[in-house]
Amino acid sequence: MLSHEENRLLTQVGPEAPMGQLFRRYWIPVLASAELPEPDGAPVAVRILGEDLVAFRDTAGRVGLVDEACPHRCTSLAYGLNAEHGLRCIYHGWKFDVEGRCVDLPSEPKDSRFREKIRLKAYPTVEAAGVVWAYLGPEETKPPFPTFWWMTLPLENLAIARVWQECNYAQVIENDLDFVHAAFLHRSYQDRPIAPGLLSDDLGVNPSHPLLRNPPVKQFVQPTRYGQRCVAIGEAEAGEQAIMEIHYIFPFFTYPPRFPEEDGMWHAFVPRDDFSTWSWDVQFSNRGPIDVAAQHARRGLILDSSLKKLRNRDNHYQQDRQLMRTGNLSGMRGIATQDHAVTETMGPIVDRTREHLGTSDIPIIGMRKILLDSVREFLRTGTPPYALHQLPLERLYSRGVRTGWDQPWQQASPVPPEFAADEGSRLGRRASQ
Ligand code: FES
Ligand SMILES: [Fe+2]
Repeated sequence: MLSHEENRLLTQVGPEAPMGQLFRRYWIPVLASAELPEPDGAPVAVRILGEDLVAFRDTAGRVGLVDEACPHRCTSLAYGLNAEHGLRCIYHGWKFDVEGRCVDLPSEPKDSRFREKIRLKAYPTVEAAGVVWAYLGPEETKPPFPTFWWMTLPLENLAIARVWQECNYAQVIENDLDFVHAAFLHRSYQDRPIAPGLLSDDLGVNPSHPLLRNPPVKQFVQPTRYGQRCVAIGEAEAGEQAIMEIHYIFPFFTYPPRFPEEDGMWHAFVPRDDFSTWSWDVQFSNRGPIDVAAQHARRGLILDSSLKKLRNRDNHYQQDRQLMRTGNLSGMRGIATQDHAVTETMGPIVDRTREHLGTSDIPIIGMRKILLDSVREFLRTGTPPYALHQLPLERLYSRGVRTGWDQPWQQASPVPPEFAADEGSRLGRRASQ
């Protein structure tokens, strides 16, 4: 449970909000490279942290991320002409390059120097592994670009999706750190009744998976140099101990629990504004090309051109009450549909003064504390508490372990030393940092 004031501090992300300013100190995924498939193609409007922006790929292939509102009289540049190294407003023809310089201002006299005073807000971008990232903070505090594990894999090993989730980012992260919900909400996600006595489906889910067969018996959280490692001890298929881990990487990245034989998963939950989130889902295979169609079927999301779901709150996520009686508790099709439904139906910003947290919520309590402690420290010192660029993030992903029950989990699945926090360090930092 949080107070109203803490809930506001946690959830507000606009340019003036403390959390919004802290998030702007990190590199943020903005859109998939495939959304800007060619030079001089159509621009794409995208809202990030409460700011309305436009991305475009110029003639040279560079990606610009600029204010959507033209600095003349604020017409949307998403409708502009993208040609010859710049984006031209359709209203009076002002033209801007990817850095926001006004390169043509044809509505003023030829000898006017007005153009030199005009600047369009533009953010630096980096394109890596099929994703365009941007830095929305002050130029002088821009950190080096981080490399996550999946970015080191060939593109054909990745399935990348960006989806509009209609609720605040914090409740989306909370859902992702919630080990226990899988055994209920995701026990089945298929679109046909399952056979009596068989809690399985056609899409590759193993019904005996330690996450699905029973809720975990114990959970722990460990502060780390990237944020928090969440650990759950469950029962594996053969009755042995399953040690599962979720990495919560500050401020809004996660690696959900996976075993080595499974495809991996990475999430980013980027606030679109206070009331909605861009939920990034990167499925990756460490072995070879990934089956993109199977991943889409498993997730169950059908999107419109604005990346909103066709199964949504207006149509009850197409909940099938008949299906609910056959083992699919939610009556909804697709794992992601189920996740979106439970987070969105809380309301756009859940009122955390009304909740009753239990032992199943240990990772969520830890994550809220990290975010709130971090933003308070940031307000005090002006420095973001987690320096991701100082960490070898390219070595980190979720790796579950199966072992005998006599093995202490801390020994069977330790935090690698390069990510381990100093003893007593509240925010997981090293004394030398
Ligand atoms: S509003 Fe864009 S050029 Fe006038
Ligand atoms: Fe889920």
